[in-house]
Parts: sequence; structure tokens; C-alpha cells
Amino acid sequence: MSKRTISPGGSVTGVVELPGDKSISHRYGILAALAEGKSEIINYASAADCRSTLECMRCLGAEIEIKSDRVIVTGSGLDGLKEPRKMLDAENSGSTMRMLAGVLAGQKFDSSITGDDSLRKRPMRRVVEPLTQMGGHISTEEGGRAPLKIHGSQLHGIDYSTPIPSAQIKSAVLFAGLYADSPTTVRESVATRDHTETALREFGARVESVDGAKGAVRIQPRPKLTARQLMVPGDLSGAVFLVSTALILPDSSLILHNVGLNPTRARVLDFLVSLGGSVKVTAVQMRDGELVGDVSVGYSEMKGGTIAGTQVAEMIDELPMLAALGPFTEQGIEIHDAQELRVKESDRIATIAAGLRAMGATVEEFPDGLRVAGRSAGKLRGAKVESHGDHRIAMALSVAALGAQGDTTIRDSDCVGVSFPEFFATLEKLRGATV
Ligand code: S3P
Repeated sequence: MSKRTISPGGSVTGVVELPGDKSISHRYGILAALAEGKSEIINYASAADCRSTLECMRCLGAEIEIKSDRVIVTGSGLDGLKEPRKMLDAENSGSTMRMLAGVLAGQKFDSSITGDDSLRKRPMRRVVEPLTQMGGHISTEEGGRAPLKIHGSQLHGIDYSTPIPSAQIKSAVLFAGLYADSPTTVRESVATRDHTETALREFGARVESVDGAKGAVRIQPRPKLTARQLMVPGDLSGAVFLVSTALILPDSSLILHNVGLNPTRARVLDFLVSLGGSVKVTAVQMRDGELVGDVSVGYSEMKGGTIAGTQVAEMIDELPMLAALGPFTEQGIEIHDAQELRVKESDRIATIAAGLRAMGATVEEFPDGLRVAGRSAGKLRGAKVESHGDHRIAMALSVAALGAQGDTTIRDSDCVGVSFPEFFATLEKLRGATV
């Protein structure tokens, strides 16, 4: 098993070009395969999860060419997918499995999709239920787990209120709505990332907010999706690990170019500013329906703060990193209403708490969150910690290790490749710039 030892200290300086956003890449990869013609996706994510999506679309008949900084996908239209010859494999990617379940439910053929040990433990009933309401036929293993066996069916539009704030559930239903015989509406009590709605519109689908309400969208069925050239913004969720490194290492100063700043994702930057973080956004522009801009950040003394309620969905993937900032703030970081963290690639409340405790942090765990004490509880020390195969835990603990006393060894560190394969090399380069 891979492991990596991190020696603390130094600072990070320089300019960073980030790999493409993982969430947006999945959507572009799927939609390009459902569109007619050749789409060119520039800065498609290097994340292993997004390769899993491409591989699934390839098994479904799309022609896919992967070049160094772009992916060319040739699709044959909404009805152009072919019955796969083998079971599809989403590997570690929950987004791939859940969003594709929506697409596959409405096909004229049967299919099945599985994943790795981690993904086969994660809940899938949350997408099976609404897809069944639409007339889909999906069977799962015990407890609503993958593999999913999907019997292609004629789907019907529904009006669905999501019981859990999840962009993956919303997306599965909207993708299924492409194949329904009447419009499909999804309502959310907490608005989640809207990349699916935006990407669907970019490819030519009609997706409107219902009665102008935030958090309720309707898709018209059977649009003609047209191939596009699209640029994927830099991955904000990956950027947050580098931003956090700059915030905690004295004398650091970074500029991150072309970062995705979609308002349904960018709240994390406001939160870092509220802690006292010196984080600034410039050169903001709209590209292919997504906001992008440059983010500059420098070392900061931070106060601490609490994340709860609607903020949780807006920062869901950043919570492990924000928790790990606790010991570098005055009063610590407290997170509530985040029970969803327990069903991510690992139980992220338990795994980040265990890692930080091993490094000497004072952590109180709640069913729906945790409290990580601030600096007065003592400085972190190097330790042997576990990623539990979870990319965001590996990166959050790596950043904390940079601010600790003594070396930290992270077991199963290669899992960072799931979302940010260049993470350790980028950190080394930015640290190297200061010595
Ligand atoms: C994602 C949605 C979130 C997030 C995941 C990516 C997406 O999951 O945690 O990393 O791309 O739609 P949930 O929808 O399960 O909250």
C-alpha cells in the first residue's frame, strides 16, 4: 500500500493552474456522449473518478479520445447509446454511478453498474427510489447497495422533492427526465450545486427554474442535444487544499488561475474570509455558463467559526479540510448538520477526527459533525495517520501535517488520484519555490 511522509514547515508561493473541476467534467463527459456529434472538452479533469465516467460512456458506445489537455467525445444522440458488453464500473465514483443510473433507467436495453469496495458500501436507494417512481426498474444488493441492475424502461415525468440535499440525486432525476414522456420537476429544500442544470442548457436541453423559485427546476423531455466545445474551470474543491496550505504556512502567497466560482460551490471562500483568511477573487468572468476567476491567498491569522444548516451542502466536499484547519485557528472549527459526511468515500466525520486526534488535536465528535479545538489546545505533532482510501481525507491530513511539529506518514496516500492526481507534486513545486 502507498504511503507518503510529509515534513512540515516552509511556505508556498507561486502561480497555480488547476486541473479541471471533477463535478463539471462528469457532466460534460456524460452529456457529450448523449449529444449528436463531436464535442471537445478542454481541461477535462485528470481525476480518476472522471476517467471512470469516460470509460463507462465508452462501454456504452461513445467514441472517446483522450489527449493531454482535452477530451474529444463523439456521441450519436439521445438514443445512440449501445447495450454494454460487460458490467459498467464506476470504481470509486459515486457521481458516476448515481448520475448514470438516471441515464440508464431510460434506455431500451438492460445494463448493470458496480464500483470498488468503498462505492459498494454507499447508499444507492436515494436514486433508485425516484427513478422507480418514474417507471424505472432497478434492483440493488441488500441494503440498497451496488451493483445496480437496471432494466431499461419507458420513463414518466414526476414532480420530486429530494429528501436529502444531494446534487447527485437531483442530477440522476434530471438525466432520467431527458428520456421521460412528460416534464420532470426536482425540488430541493436546500439548493445544491447546479452544474447539471447549467451543462444541460449548454448542450441544448430546456431546464427552467419553476415559478422563478430557487431550488426547483423542470426539464423538458427528449431535447436534441448538440455537440459543443467547452472549457472546464479549475477545480475549486481541489484548490481549497492549496488555499488552506497558504493560509497556515507563514510567508505563503499563492495565485490560483481560472478557478470555478459557481455560487453554489464558492461559499467556502466566503467562509475562509469570515475566519480572517486573506482570500481575494479577481478577473471573474462567465464561461460556458460557469463563473471562473483567479483566487489569491496569503498566510493569515484565523479566528475560527461554525458551519451548519444550508452552508453544509454548499461546502460538503471541503468540510474535511475545514475541520483540519481547526488547530490553526484561535477558537477552532465546529461543524453541524453534516451527517451526509458519514456516507462519503469514507465516514468522513470519523476518519478526519481519527487522523487529527492521532496528531494531537482535541476533537469532539457528534452524530452530525465535529468540533476541532483551536490553537490554544496545543500544536499538532507529526504522526502515522490513515487516509482510509479517501482522497479528501488524505489531502486534508497532508495539509495539517505541513503545519505540525515533526514528520507525518499518510498511509494509502495514492488515493489522492481519485480527485487530484497532481496534488503532492503541486505542493512540492510550490514549496520548492520558497527554498
Ligand atoms: C457531487 C455532489 C456531492 C459531492 C460529490 C460531487 C456532484 O455529493 O459530495 O463529491 O458532482 O454532484 P452528494 O450529491 O451526494 O451530496
